[in-house]
Amino acid sequence: MGRVEGKLAIVTGAAGVVGMAVTRALIEDGLRVAMIDLDQGRLDTLATEISSNAIPVALDISDPEQVGEVCERLCRDHGEVEVLVNNAGLLTNNKAVETTTEEWRKLMSVNLDGCFYLSRECLPGMRTKRWGRIINICSLAMKTGGLTAGTAYTASKGGMGALTFSLARECASQGITVNGIAPAYIKTPMVTEQLSDEQRQKLLRDIPVGRFCEAEEIGHVVRFLTSPLAGFITGEIIDINGGLHLD
Ligand SMILES: NC(=O)c1ccc[n+]([C@@H]2O[C@H](COP(=O)([O-])OP(=O)(O)OC[C@H]3O[C@@H](n4cnc5c(N)ncnc54)[C@H](O)[C@@H]3O)[C@@H](O)[C@H]2O)c1
Repeated sequence: MGRVEGKLAIVTGAAGVVGMAVTRALIEDGLRVAMIDLDQGRLDTLATEISSNAIPVALDISDPEQVGEVCERLCRDHGEVEVLVNNAGLLTNNKAVETTTEEWRKLMSVNLDGCFYLSRECLPGMRTKRWGRIINICSLAMKTGGLTAGTAYTASKGGMGALTFSLARECASQGITVNGIAPAYIKTPMVTEQLSDEQRQKLLRDIPVGRFCEAEEIGHVVRFLTSPLAGFITGEIIDINGGLHLD
């Protein structure tokens, strides 16, 4: 079945709460992780704290040229990327009428376009290796229409879900799996800062498990999907929502 030790992974949004937890989980499993986010200084500090196997890389994933250059450099300096975790994302809670054109474009360009650009750059190397894992951090919003999340966010995550299915189908015969994770309400600033106290209290009553999700629990699902023994799972969106939505 092979081993994941020593493989090179990319985690986008790696300076965020979930990105950090995912990075730590993959490094614990022996992977090297290119931590991609916007601020090089912050990434340098985090990478030093985490491990010598953490490679800090500043990149705006919404810029296709930058994505191309950085992926080429990574491949040259560190080898082919075999695991890609598309985790960077922006949230706004505005519903359609309040959503500006600029906000719509911004969320699409980061949440959906960025995921596509990175997948497009990493796929040829995965094909060469005949092994790869792409894991897209979607959201429960894509299934529910967004309980508290806004229209642009919900639509961008729906796009990520469809991109997951499309890539899964086209890559299945090449040893590459493409899956998504649909979390709800992880204990991060998206919950602690972008929701009101009243919204948080209501959610805690509505979530059957009775608490918010820990970022480490997302890291655990990424680690599971990355494992060689998960090679028969592709085109799947794994729910992690404390029973809030059952399908
Ligand atoms: N927090 C939740 O409750 C929740 C629920 C469902 C899904 N998610 C998804 O999980 C993922 C991680 O969320 P989080 O809560 O850790 O968010 P976060 O805000 O802590 O982290 C997101 C990171 O993405 C980075 N980023 C933003 N734009 C970027 C760009 N153009 N290029 C590179 N990096 C960029 C940010 O700098 C930040 O570090 C997101 O995709 C989010 O939509 C979160």
